Amino acid sequence: MKFLVTAGPTREAIDPVRFISNRSSGKMGYAVAAAARAAGHRVRLVSGPVALDPPAGIRPVRVISAADLLAAVDRHLDWCDVLVMAAAVADWRPKRPARRKLKKAAGPPRIEWEPAPDILRAVAPRKKNTQLFCGFAAETNPSAREARRKLRDKNLDLLALNDVSQPGRGFEADRNALDVFTADGRVHRIPPASKLRCAHRLVALIEELSSEWFR
Ligand code: CTP
Repeated sequence: MKFLVTAGPTREAIDPVRFISNRSSGKMGYAVAAAARAAGHRVRLVSGPVALDPPAGIRPVRVISAADLLAAVDRHLDWCDVLVMAAAVADWRPKRPARRKLKKAAGPPRIEWEPAPDILRAVAPRKKNTQLFCGFAAETNPSAREARRKLRDKNLDLLALNDVSQPGRGFEADRNALDVFTADGRVHRIPPASKLRCAHRLVALIEELSSEWFR
């Protein structure tokens, strides 16, 4: 299959030297890209700014902002059979980034915010019924109800939920554990393991579901 994987955070400019971002390291998305490739799939990886070496044999498409990420996903969407949105995309961005560096003497800036593009929502109408979309949700207060809501609202086939309040898991950590909710109402638990091991299990689940659903 052809996997389009997004990974890492986005950065939204405040002024030419400052941005707002989040704690995503990109490790989980990179692990999914590596696992999919190791399983024999073709992989395109779209990556926000991260400090990771690319997985062997993959040259990431580099992006900075949510708008760049949307443009890249848009460009590669028709190519893929599977979209895995592991990127931690900004929900909000400064409406008018300053053209010049904000000076300290001017006092604390008042920033007006606007929604950043919601990529999954934006591409949902283009989803073909032979494509499988997988979202990720990093929550500090995970609930099955909220996971199912996101699955439905974003027109996903799978949603991998991870609890980032657990020490040693989620953001920046090398380990993770995932509860994967599927559109047919099931939950597949991927127990605590390295992110690479979790990624292999997730790729295996995607292979299994796609042969079950698109047989
Ligand atoms: N996502 C996206 N575009 C955004 C925000 C999120 O495509 N602007 C994707 C993420 O890549 C992820 C999924 O949506 O696969 C769920 O992300 P999450 O941040 O949990 O969802 P939100 O809708 O932003 O919900 P909330 O922040 O209220 O928890």
